[in-house]
Amino acid sequence: MADKVAVVTGSNKGIGFGIVRELCKRGLRYVYLTARDAQRGQEAIAKLNKEGYDPFFHQLDVTDEQSVKAFTKYLKRKHGGLDILINNAGVINANFTETTYEDTIRVLNANYYSILTIQTYMFPILKDNARVIHISSDCGHISNLKNTYWIERLTKEDIKQEDIDAFVDWFVDSVRNGTLNEADFQEMPLLSYRISKISLCALTRVQQKEAGRGISVNSLHPGFVKTDMTKTAGFITIEDASQAPVYLALDVDQSVKGRYFWFDKTEKDWADANKKLYCVYAVVEKCVRESNAA
Ligand SMILES: NC(=O)c1ccc[n+]([C@@H]2O[C@H](COP(=O)([O-])OP(=O)(O)OC[C@H]3O[C@@H](n4cnc5c(N)ncnc54)[C@H](OP(=O)(O)O)[C@@H]3O)[C@@H](O)[C@H]2O)c1
Repeated sequence: MADKVAVVTGSNKGIGFGIVRELCKRGLRYVYLTARDAQRGQEAIAKLNKEGYDPFFHQLDVTDEQSVKAFTKYLKRKHGGLDILINNAGVINANFTETTYEDTIRVLNANYYSILTIQTYMFPILKDNARVIHISSDCGHISNLKNTYWIERLTKEDIKQEDIDAFVDWFVDSVRNGTLNEADFQEMPLLSYRISKISLCALTRVQQKEAGRGISVNSLHPGFVKTDMTKTAGFITIEDASQAPVYLALDVDQSVKGRYFWFDKTEKDWADANKKLYCVYAVVEKCVRESNAA
């Protein structure tokens, strides 16, 4: 295990930073803390060095194809590939209660399209029995949707990439044309963030089917975590939220594939729209309000 090569995207702060720290704690020799901004990345490395951990740094902007390509080339040359890939980098809506076209594209680029770029370049260098973990959200559970056509199309057993593409295109067109229909969604706040994470969970299943070579691809809701993304509101700490991703990366049986996990390490049925595991915005809003007032 010690010689495994692990990469965490967007890990200069927040949950990604916590995951890097946990992986180092577990004794992995090659843990890559990556960041789109090299200075923020190096500052994060310095913080971990002070705590006695020694991860490596590499620049990686997941929305920049050249950056993904360069890092892949580097990993291939230096290590021949990688064993653990934790896709954590992400952004949320600039305004939690407003869905604009520009912001929708920004969110989808960072949270969903980036994963397709990573799939193109980095999946071919995954080693046999590698593990890919997508940090999704409760916003990514299928019960965030009410539109039965899309629920059925995204949860069918033989889902294909083109089904997800059609779903994302439908959403982007609706935002662009001003034809969003509230009846299609459980809740309207954080809507493009929800769509990006639902698409990521659906993609997990498509990728798992295509992965081969013993590779596993799972997704995870890390909990409502006190980070910059939530304006420091939340129910759990970064340290606690880092446990489940590391469990999926190192401890769970290799036979666990294409599944959706929760921050307490339990598995949830992503495809059950009746489960009501969607993100309740009133809870988020109350917590943010209370945290800001404190
Ligand atoms: N916090 C929660 O309650 C919660 C709940 C459910 C899911 N999640 C998910 O957990 C993951 C981590 O979130 P967090 O709460 O730790 O947020 P955060 O504190 O805002 O950290 C996000 C990280 O992603 C990086 N990032 C953003 N865009 C990037 C890009 N294009 N390329 C590379 N890195 C990029 C950020 O880098 P910069 O510093 O350069 O911006 C930062 O390091 C996200 O996928 C999020 O959707 C969080």
